[in-house]
Amino acid sequence: MVKHVAVYVTGSIAAYKAVELVRTLQKKGLTVRVAETKAATELVGPATFASLTKHRVFTDLWAESVDGHVPHIELADWADLAVVVPATANVIAKMANGIADDAATAALLATSAPVAVIPAMNSQMWENPATQRNVRLLKEDGRLLMEPTTGYLAEGYQGKGRLPAVGAIADFVETVLVADGDQLGKRRVVVTLGGTREPVDPVRFLGNRSSGKMGLAIAEAALNAGATVTIIAGSAQVKLPVSPRCQIVKVTTTEEMATAVKQKLNGADVLVMAAAVADFKLASPAKQKIKKAADQSTYQLTLVPTVDILKAAGKLKRPEQLVIGFAAETNDLLAHAQQKLVDKQADVIVANDVSDSRTGFGSDDNQVTILRPNWQPAKWPLMSKKAVGERLVDLIAQLLRKED
Ligand code: CTP
Repeated sequence: MVKHVAVYVTGSIAAYKAVELVRTLQKKGLTVRVAETKAATELVGPATFASLTKHRVFTDLWAESVDGHVPHIELADWADLAVVVPATANVIAKMANGIADDAATAALLATSAPVAVIPAMNSQMWENPATQRNVRLLKEDGRLLMEPTTGYLAEGYQGKGRLPAVGAIADFVETVLVADGDQLGKRRVVVTLGGTREPVDPVRFLGNRSSGKMGLAIAEAALNAGATVTIIAGSAQVKLPVSPRCQIVKVTTTEEMATAVKQKLNGADVLVMAAAVADFKLASPAKQKIKKAADQSTYQLTLVPTVDILKAAGKLKRPEQLVIGFAAETNDLLAHAQQKLVDKQADVIVANDVSDSRTGFGSDDNQVTILRPNWQPAKWPLMSKKAVGERLVDLIAQLLRKED
């Protein structure tokens, strides 16, 4: 199936580069339609885009409907991806605040397709705190932002605000659009990985041995299957993926991870809690470095439980969402894992024996048993963490299909 890209051109001097972009996207086999703001039409006339796309350019919210369709809704629904290019500070501000006062912004508000925003503006406008705040809001809303580049601006001086090269934008668009048949296309997956750390004093912490490898394997498999992925990363020894479909949130403590998960869960189809979360934190971490006294032979720390993130997510989740947890056990694997499945109201528990050096923390392999309510536990053979990640993503795709 040919993919549909709606290009929203707004009133930046760089609008002329959108003409080249439309051609480049077409050469990649994509079908393109264009909407322009009024300001953009002053810079590049709709006739240019109309003749390239062989389709009327959407500029007027009150345009006559075609076949009874409301034009801005029709464009919003037609697109597999919306690309705002170049995006002015004004349109970014409107999008960040849900303002829909012309054809382009109304269609953007109405679209459920992923939205990529490629800003281009004067460097001072880009650096203005209001623009930066609006860009942050767009990112929080899951919009895909491409940073402007630094260089010679239309104003005749150097600064950050230039539209990235057309080829780079086209590559970005291609990566966002997932290939046909991708099993997690359009799905949003949140994966936590690594370990959380609880401060003891300004220089020390309580932590764990999690390497982040298992969580990374799941996140990469989900990306390869076409999903949009949010990685909430505690401390880990892995290189995190770079992809326009991957957002990374770095956290340190359990509380920070809990806040990030709560924030991201609402917009997710799946949460995979692969992180090794600290179960206890200090009742009151020292504000200054703890000093040892000469005659001191013991030192006591008072610990209190942390929030159970998986359990909270299990309670919060909507019926169509999947919440998947891990059970790291050193003994009585199945009994403990089964208990976690029930206690935490998880849809799946991936149980693994961390006392086995072939499969425990830091190793490249894993041997897991999958538990699910009303299923017989399924023991998967010893395989690489990458393969476990891929198989888990297959299972997720299968379970999501059932939820539809
Ligand atoms: N988990 C969590 N929040 C916590 C502790 C654990 O979300 N405070 C999640 C882990 O990410 C994992 C699952 O719960 O997906 C099980 O973690 P595990 O460490 O095996 O078990 P605990 O719940 O901590 O219980 P115990 O330490 O008693 O085995």
